[in-house]
Amino acid sequence: MKLFVDTGNLKEIEAMVSLGIVDGVTTNPSLLAKESGDYREILKQICRTVQGPVSAEVVATDTAGMIREGRDLATIDEHIVIKVPFTKDGVKACKALSSDGHRVNVTLIFSATQAWLAAKVGAAYVSPFVGRLDDVGTTGMNLIREIVEIFDNADYATEVLVASVRNPIHVVESARMGADVVTAPAAVIEQCFKHPLTDIGLERFLKDWEKAQAAKV
Ligand code: G3P
Repeated sequence: MKLFVDTGNLKEIEAMVSLGIVDGVTTNPSLLAKESGDYREILKQICRTVQGPVSAEVVATDTAGMIREGRDLATIDEHIVIKVPFTKDGVKACKALSSDGHRVNVTLIFSATQAWLAAKVGAAYVSPFVGRLDDVGTTGMNLIREIVEIFDNADYATEVLVASVRNPIHVVESARMGADVVTAPAAVIEQCFKHPLTDIGLERFLKDWEKAQAAKV
């Protein structure tokens, strides 16, 4: 399973990339709005840093506007993946942009039928939002199981990109269910590294070693 970082923050991305664990980045208008500076320049620097797929979202809501913005975003860098929301206009834009050879990430997916329709129009990725489903009292990960099954049955090339990830359990479940990609905030990736028994174990190894060396002199 590939790991993308869900952020527009270059420092967070640099720190994660330096660990050698990052395959790509996802951004959205809310994430980029938190960063100061020109969004095109930010996206360019993210692409340079990650050297993998970087999702950049359109803000137009009509098909023509999404296509125009999507084409423009794609000129920023070859790594840009155009993100469009799942609406009827978004589906039409996805079809047009994919036919042009662009990679499209269809976002704001909350049902299996939405994911299936996005796959039918050539989406490179679908982004089901698991955390936001959990927030409204449903089990977000059930949707991932359904979509993976549907895409496997039909042999769709569309990748399942698990988004709105809030904790390491979402990450583990995504991998177990056969999702292609999980995109997680840096804080969740940090949590994936941590286990108190690792820290305690290392401390004990080093203490025992020091004690043995001291006894030898
Ligand atoms: O990739 C989509 C993601 O950024 C949404 O996450 O936590 O705002 O639901 P969240």
